[in-house]
Amino acid sequence: MKTRPPLWKLAPALFIACFGHAMAQGYDVAAKEVEKALLLTPDLENGMRVYMICTVCHTPEGWGTADGRYPQIAGQLQSVIIKQLADIRARNRDNPTMRPFTVPQLMGGSQEIADVSAYIAALPMNPMNGTGPGTDIEYGNQLYDKYCADCHGDQGEGNEKKHIPKIQGQHFRYLVRQFDWIRIGKRRNADKEMVEQIRGFRPRDEMAVLDYVSRLKPATDKLANPGWQNPDFPHYSRAPFDAQRFPTVNPLAPAEHDPPARN
Ligand code: HEC
Ligand code: HEC
Repeated sequence: MKTRPPLWKLAPALFIACFGHAMAQGYDVAAKEVEKALLLTPDLENGMRVYMICTVCHTPEGWGTADGRYPQIAGQLQSVIIKQLADIRARNRDNPTMRPFTVPQLMGGSQEIADVSAYIAALPMNPMNGTGPGTDIEYGNQLYDKYCADCHGDQGEGNEKKHIPKIQGQHFRYLVRQFDWIRIGKRRNADKEMVEQIRGFRPRDEMAVLDYVSRLKPATDKLANPGWQNPDFPHYSRAPFDAQRFPTVNPLAPAEHDPPARN
């Protein structure tokens, strides 16, 4: 009588059978979604409606937080937003916090991706993003011109056609996290040539170049005035959410039923 191999011996084969296929499929699905969304004419009005779900974390302004937990997404190139949404949805880029909100039942299909990405791309950017320590900027500038400008542009403005992200005006701490994740392979949708390019970077190089990037200013017509609030969401409740988002910054913050006063 033939004995069947124990199940654990089949584990590698089973893994490849199940997840290998799913992973390859994920890339395929995302690529198709990007292609489709890029060809659609965006409806900004509907984009605003879809963006309502996103405001829960990204706030109506899409300006992110200096602690690096949330990126600035306002003003990002539309093709980049489309690619990131498709990648996150297809699990090519891990984002367990956000992914549940990107399922078709909530975010919609390719049309909604086109709409919401155009809406976000048109939002004015944060004029006061978080920057680095400012102690090694000259060196950062040299590294940037040599290793990054070819792809991300002289001023970190990105490249719409090649969906290379705009990185100017991004929060320093978010840049550091993404750069580390790209370097160690944790961000699975990273650009392979970029990974190659930054392979030899030492901690000093990384800090210097990202500090420099965080200080690259977007064009003035893309920047909001400090304190600008997005008038499309007049009823957005800000105070309790801020308290919830920064629990470690002020552990003595009043309880939720007693929101902190804002200045
Ligand atoms: C539950 C919180 C949450 C919600 C809701 C959410 N996001 Fe996010 N989003 C995040 C976090 C956290 C990140 C950063 C992930 C990381 O560090 O890799 C992120 C990253 C992104 C990025 C990538 C930015 C970059 O520069 O790489 C885009 C684009 C984005 N979100 C768009 C959206 C849109 C559009 C919606 C609404 C459909 C949305 N998000 C809803 C938490 C959220
Ligand atoms: C060969 C082209 C190339 C080079 C060189 C390159 N990058 Fe990138 N970079 C990319 C692409 C493409 C992405 C987006 C990958 C994806 O689709 O998620 C990216 C993503 C990033 C991100 C994440 C942005 C975000 O919003 O999530 C950061 C930060 C970054 N690059 C910084 C740098 C820095 C700093 C340098 C120079 C030291 C550099 N890159 C060099 C192509 C490049």
